[in-house]
Amino acid sequence: MTAPGEVVLALSGVVKTFPGVRALDGVELEVRAGEVHCLLGQNGAGKSTLIKVLAGVHRPDEGSITWLGEDFHPATPQAAMRAGIATIYQELDLVDDLSVAENAFLGHEPHRAGFVRRADSAQRTREILGRLGHPEIPPRRLVRSLPAAGKQIVSMARALSHDARLIVMDEPSAVLAHDEVGNLFRIIRELTAQGIAVVYISHRLDEIREIGDRVTVLKDGRTTAANLPARTTPTKDLVSRMTGRSIEYVFPPRAGREPGPELLAVRGLSRDGEFANVDLTVREGEIVGIAGLVGSGRSELLETIYGARRADAGTVEMRGKRLRPGDVIAAVKAGLGMAPEERKSQALLLGEPIHRNMTLSTFTGYARGGFTDVATERAKAQETADRLHLHPRDVNRAVRTLSGGNQQKVVVGRWLLGDTKLLLLDEPTRGVDVGARAELYQLIRGLAERGVGVLLVSSEVPEVLGLADRVLVMREGHVVREAAADDLDESAVLDLVMAGSLLEGEALA
Ligand SMILES: Nc1ncnc2c1ncn2[C@@H]1O[C@H](COP(=O)(O)OP(=O)(O)OP(=O)(O)O)[C@@H](O)[C@H]1O
Ligand SMILES: [Mg+2]
Repeated sequence: MTAPGEVVLALSGVVKTFPGVRALDGVELEVRAGEVHCLLGQNGAGKSTLIKVLAGVHRPDEGSITWLGEDFHPATPQAAMRAGIATIYQELDLVDDLSVAENAFLGHEPHRAGFVRRADSAQRTREILGRLGHPEIPPRRLVRSLPAAGKQIVSMARALSHDARLIVMDEPSAVLAHDEVGNLFRIIRELTAQGIAVVYISHRLDEIREIGDRVTVLKDGRTTAANLPARTTPTKDLVSRMTGRSIEYVFPPRAGREPGPELLAVRGLSRDGEFANVDLTVREGEIVGIAGLVGSGRSELLETIYGARRADAGTVEMRGKRLRPGDVIAAVKAGLGMAPEERKSQALLLGEPIHRNMTLSTFTGYARGGFTDVATERAKAQETADRLHLHPRDVNRAVRTLSGGNQQKVVVGRWLLGDTKLLLLDEPTRGVDVGARAELYQLIRGLAERGVGVLLVSSEVPEVLGLADRVLVMREGHVVREAAADDLDESAVLDLVMAGSLLEGEALA
């Protein structure tokens, strides 16, 4: 076993190219046993590519990797796992239709005389889940039926089922609510206390400060700073190493004038088991924010307003005209646009070029944007790509080849183009780096100034308070408070949001 503090992993001069892109261009990285080593970098800097090289998904073109003192060239993900490196990917890669235990032991089920021992793997899964502080997750439950936080625990259980010595986590907190991040950090502390090393990727500097020991910064596929102390390195240093410039992380000022006439009116909207009796309005030029935990019914509410789900009761009106329930096309015609939360399954045609994805006018993909020819479509998309600092800027590339944060920019960017009157945004900055975030905030504020109404859902309370004019707090499907953003502060919102959240654990059982 390695001693605490001993170097377990060392990378030097690692290069990885894809057709037309040098994703990694000389990476240096050193990870010690028992530390949390954070990787920081803008969208497209190469973080996910780097960890896929470690995980045996990609082969590097050049450079050396040393793992536990030996040269390391994992040919497959299984080989990396066997060597003790486990990865929790940005887009979770569990098999929805297998059980918790089957996922945890996928590819290495306990055998006896050639037969898979289901009872053994269930028992061992139960032990691991207990160690992770989630004994309530049933090993035989299908993964499909678990909430995002539960799925992440299963990913973690899979890592532990291999006796991993290094666990790599690619933006694990992006799918978690506030209280679940605390549990994740508790688990990480227990792992590192046992000498396990953790590589942690996040765009949230507050998390890096809380959980990290050392930080390595990537920019354009290169290490620009290595082994900085996570707690004490000033934010402006981290940001300038990432971006090459200094960025003020501030919200644009609110409009000085009153919002216009009422645009959207939702009355008594309900869906069984999701949300009940919601009343809300959005005026022209107004940004209304909804705060609440994951699972409080916020996303379902937005999707129902958009017509992607059908309400059990209540009405949605745009400018006094009732929208037909469950009819997205009618909603889009009435001027609604929506950037949904799950970009992969709901929003993007991954094999299609960026310009096509940006000009689609519904997330289900049936209606084309109003552009008659591809040249206009491309030019319009290029404009948006430039404003959002899309990386790479070439709008002819397939969306599949973009990094996670850049895919998110395409989803949001789509709505900056058309003549949307009311924009529904569900977690618009998830996975977006600090620089692009500031840009996105300005764009959203700019839309409001042009009279667009915005209804925004975010798990990040400062984002809701900083961007919205008016805030609704949701808990367990009910609006529990409505106030001007100026009349609320973070701790007041968190108190409202968290009260009663003890019930959340039971939803898993
Ligand atoms: N399969 C691929 N084919 C072509 N290019 C790719 C592929 N995978 C990644 N890239 C490119 O490699 C670069 C690095 O991407 P990567 O996903 O590693 O970024 P990242 O740092 O994880 O960003 P994010 O914070 O947005 O997740 C990007 O320019 C991306 O477009
Ligand atoms: Mg990534």
